[in-house]
Amino acid sequence: MNLIKKMLVAQAAVLALWAVSAQAATNDDAIAKRLEPVGKVCVQGQECAGVGAVASAGGGGAPRSGEEIVGKVCTNCHGTGLLGSPKVGDKADWGKRAKEQGGLDGLLAKAISGINAMPPKGTCADCTDDELKAAIRHMSGL
Ligand code: HEC
Repeated sequence: MNLIKKMLVAQAAVLALWAVSAQAATNDDAIAKRLEPVGKVCVQGQECAGVGAVASAGGGGAPRSGEEIVGKVCTNCHGTGLLGSPKVGDKADWGKRAKEQGGLDGLLAKAISGINAMPPKGTCADCTDDELKAAIRHMSGL
């Protein structure tokens, strides 16, 4: 390769690099736009615009009924016995469990801590103990 040719190749390479990086820069903006959070995380106990109704339901507001908690949360598993959970209204299963755990309060303790595939508080992070207890009552008939 003679010198002139070499210089031309080098220049073409620089041009190509410039083109790529210019493109990358515009893409970055587009990507940043696309990566903007769709929802914002709300921390329990803190003001959170838009979800006031949900956030206040657990803390401070009137306690929700067992039926409401079950319908919104617990039924996701307990409605069909998913993952081996005791079904809503299955008195035999609930009664057996109540015996094993020493009654309703024992069941409540397990509901709060979680047990095996049952997540802590049954995924109802903002549920009060009383609300959880009402929910267990509603599901078990105890
Ligand atoms: C993600 C599914 C899931 C959700 C949601 C869920 N549970 Fe459960 N729950 C389970 C499973 C699975 C078990 C059975 C665990 C075992 O005995 O191995 C269970 C068992 C229980 C038990 C019996 C514990 C024991 O000691 O036998 C109670 C009480 C309970 N759940 C309460 C609740 C309440 C109250 C809610 C709603 C606030 C809820 N669960 C939501 C899956 C769930």
